[in-house]
Amino acid sequence: MCGIVAYTGPNPAIPVLLNGLKRLEYRGYDSAGIAVEGADGISIRKSEGKVSELVGLLGEDEASLKSSTCGIAHTRWATHGPPTTVNAHPHAGGKNGIVLVHNGIIENHRALRTTLEGKGYVFVSETDTEVLAHLVDSLYAGDLLEAVTTALKEVHGTYGIACLSDQEPGVLLVARRGSPIVIGVGADETIVASDASAIIKHTRQAIYLDDNDIAKITGKEIDIRSLNNMPVSRKPAEIDWSADAAEKGGYEHYMLKEIFEQPEAIRNTLRGRMDPERGTALLSGLDLTPRELADLYRLLIVGCGTSMNAGLVGEYAMEDFAGVLAEVEQAAEFRYRNPIVGSRDLVIAISQSGETADTLAAVREAMDKGALVAGLVNVVGSTIARETGRGVYLHAGPEISVASTKAFTSQVSVLLMTALKFARSRRMSVEQGRQFVREIESIPSLVEQVLAKNDEIAKIAEKYVEQTSAFFIGRGYMYPVALEGALKLKEISYIHAEGYHAAELKHGPIALLEASVPVIALCNDGPGKDKTLGNVAECRARDSRVLGIVTEGDEEAMAAVDDYISVPACPLHIAVVPSTVALQLLSYHIARLRGCPIDQPRNLAKSVTVE
Ligand code: F6R
Repeated sequence: MCGIVAYTGPNPAIPVLLNGLKRLEYRGYDSAGIAVEGADGISIRKSEGKVSELVGLLGEDEASLKSSTCGIAHTRWATHGPPTTVNAHPHAGGKNGIVLVHNGIIENHRALRTTLEGKGYVFVSETDTEVLAHLVDSLYAGDLLEAVTTALKEVHGTYGIACLSDQEPGVLLVARRGSPIVIGVGADETIVASDASAIIKHTRQAIYLDDNDIAKITGKEIDIRSLNNMPVSRKPAEIDWSADAAEKGGYEHYMLKEIFEQPEAIRNTLRGRMDPERGTALLSGLDLTPRELADLYRLLIVGCGTSMNAGLVGEYAMEDFAGVLAEVEQAAEFRYRNPIVGSRDLVIAISQSGETADTLAAVREAMDKGALVAGLVNVVGSTIARETGRGVYLHAGPEISVASTKAFTSQVSVLLMTALKFARSRRMSVEQGRQFVREIESIPSLVEQVLAKNDEIAKIAEKYVEQTSAFFIGRGYMYPVALEGALKLKEISYIHAEGYHAAELKHGPIALLEASVPVIALCNDGPGKDKTLGNVAECRARDSRVLGIVTEGDEEAMAAVDDYISVPACPLHIAVVPSTVALQLLSYHIARLRGCPIDQPRNLAKSVTVE
């Protein structure tokens, strides 16, 4: 959620910190702040709103700050206390000049606050972070590492922190439990961030802290310890994507860039993983021993939001092709409802970021219960990727837009490969496998054909700009597409949108249909189309305008709707991807025409690291 950047080294800190904050702004953007060391101690500047507001605040009169070579910065997504300047980070503690930024939630903040108030500490904000700052101060006796370590042992909850003390200039303390911290190792400097995109401009060497690690950084010296004060060795890993990959590259928004990157992203996802000769997919991270395979009872897929919608496609494909019982479950529900899961279950956790708190908790729950657990993750080195220890990376490249696009289509591609792999190890023939390989390999070019209709889709979007509510309907493989289409539209355009199974509409939601409520219907040619066209007729009979996603050349479907976007002919399990891309573009253009802040929708953050 929020973003952290910190710097210590020989160069001015402020440009590095502000640049890092801009890179991280997609993680939270309700307020931002910076703290840098100077001759007169630590100076803090904070502001409500975007990072640009903070930049404006650091005017010419701040020349003294500009020579500082050590500092911390934060962009916030509010949890405790509204997005005001006073609640923005960094927060200062007590009299020892402790200043810190924090991602996560300190769950026992109320009890700690009461104790600290009893000791005379005065709180200015409503945040849980200020509690941590005062707590560190109350424990400070000349050694910042010791004070932070002791404080962290007293807190319950999650944190990624960066901390300074004006008693120890040039020393930066960082620590994590449940909220990522990456240390960028430069030639003579160190840049810390909550996300590698903020350090890639400076170095590709990254150390990913594990939970309960605490690092004391002085210039380029990095001393990592456990909370029990035992030295910990963490080797730097190479970040394998370029700085350009995290830039807009001439597109108006990251979302549009990422929509257009999909053919390449999917090619990267598939690269080296298809075996056309044997008609199967090579996913070594999902290799089971013959015994595990023979014993496999069920595939459980867990995830949140868009990742969960992709999981639903996986559920259908796994049962359809591999004949393996499959279920998709919302990760938070899985964690809290005491699920029946055991050693004969393979649990696949799907997460673009690899940091989503509920998905991570579901992974831990499944591991505790003895299940085989694998991750389907985009961000290399993320917590879910590391904790599962096995799985498949998406290789879709950095996804900056808050609304997920290329991660979804890469996730679906991997899930189709997974279904193929399991199907081939069970009952699918080599010929059928080869056909499936050809179908999966056609996905990037099918997406290109939809992207070529961008202008046409932008024109259609004009007809749907004024609506305040919309329904998306589909059946079978097109049902998850309806859910994902509705999610995209609501999150970036603020139009209330619901995804429903086409048959379910009659069980209640149809009461809401009228001329001002359009229906977007997935009418792709294949099993279930006739029934969906029947549902389309029911919607039009209630005066709803219907926009159909139809198969190219399908005159019947085109005649049945008011407007249509056609996608290339292909089997329905494959049509999921081009159809979703058409809906991504539709949502994008509607949001653009409505003047919405597409890359940073209100109230949202890219990576949901709190429950
Ligand atoms: C919607 C969106 C979210 C995420 C969800 C899970 O566009 O991006 O619904 O899919 O927060 O995030 P990850 O995949 O990072 O676990």
